[in-house]
Amino acid sequence: MNPADTLSDFSTFQPLLDRPIEDKLMDFQREQRLKHLIYAAQLKPDLLARLSHLADMIRRMARQRESNLALRQLLSHKRAMLYFTQPSTRTFLSFMAACQILGITCNEVRDPKTSSEIKRESHMDSIRMFSSYFDVIIMRSPIANFAECCAYMMNRLESQEMRSVPTINAGSGSDEHPTQALLDFYTIQRSFTFDSEGAAPQTKLDVLRQSYPDLQPGPAGKTYLFCGDIGRGRTVRSLATVLSQYHSQRMIFVSPDHGALKLDQGLRSRLVDAGVTVHEFESLDAELNGQPILSQTDCFYMTRIQREHNSADDTEQMAQLDLGPYQLTPARVNQLREFSPIMHPFPRDSVVQELPMQIDSDPRVMYFRQARNGMWVRAALLVHLFDASEELFMAYSQFYRD
Ligand code: NCD
Repeated sequence: MNPADTLSDFSTFQPLLDRPIEDKLMDFQREQRLKHLIYAAQLKPDLLARLSHLADMIRRMARQRESNLALRQLLSHKRAMLYFTQPSTRTFLSFMAACQILGITCNEVRDPKTSSEIKRESHMDSIRMFSSYFDVIIMRSPIANFAECCAYMMNRLESQEMRSVPTINAGSGSDEHPTQALLDFYTIQRSFTFDSEGAAPQTKLDVLRQSYPDLQPGPAGKTYLFCGDIGRGRTVRSLATVLSQYHSQRMIFVSPDHGALKLDQGLRSRLVDAGVTVHEFESLDAELNGQPILSQTDCFYMTRIQREHNSADDTEQMAQLDLGPYQLTPARVNQLREFSPIMHPFPRDSVVQELPMQIDSDPRVMYFRQARNGMWVRAALLVHLFDASEELFMAYSQFYRD
């Protein structure tokens, strides 16, 4: 399929694509529920709270054989298509595991050469075929807006009283990755409950407040440091959008001095309009108000340089960059606040080593937990999309009283 075919495929949706994002969100909503998940901006605080609660229940029920069996009954009448034509390990596998937890049967297309796209079938025809056989389409594509166009096509079919299924954007171009934002948010929220093990006389929060007197539980009022490929990292864009909905946020963006890697002006102004205080630096050793930025960081989020988006010029220019100032070395980890989660959507770059393996045993490291959390929140999202929350509550109450 050449790019011209793709354009003509999408052109019918161009007027819809050209709208400001706020005008689009209603199209992906069904009253109080999501119809499709395309943009991180759909993840409003009340929905995030509901999905986190569902994820907590699923996580608990999955532990025991009997409750696990009940989970597996919940959506055993549904089938999912995993249409992933861009490389993926965690997102693909965690969606598959989430489906398995809920009893959803999965099938996959990962290489379009094995589908009829090789016979010049259009992307949109492929999607419509998937919707004939499956009840949800979970898709990752290098083509920006592809998932969004699928959602519009499904809406059009629905308005014609034809079969239509939910679309989940599992990563589109360098644009958006809303389900990653969901799992990142869930991980941040769990980190910032400061829950203590057992009934200690002093809570973890009490102890931390001796060093950080203003510390509050929850994602609001924090300093988030995002490092690496800020310009092209879709996970940063989506997570920053979600976090900007909470009050008194400060975001520090650290990226190498290259136009493609820097915070883009569109995202910057959206964050500022949402009330976020934004700072940009070119080194992790930078200072803000006379103090190292690392010592002011409540949550650290690293990303890799997304070389797959490079133009030939980018590759040449980036080869000249010294990436040392963006590496989270053990010495830099020591400067972080003692409760600051260290996050990364993964994969990390084993050559650049933006997160060297020596730091993996630090108790603040969250990147492996993040990946596992992805399975729970993606299962929660599927329960929500299939309107099975009430059934999950009922199943849960058969095993637990709280
Ligand atoms: C991210 C992605 O695909 O955008 N990975 C992921 O989904 N966990 C980040 C990346 O590839 O760098």
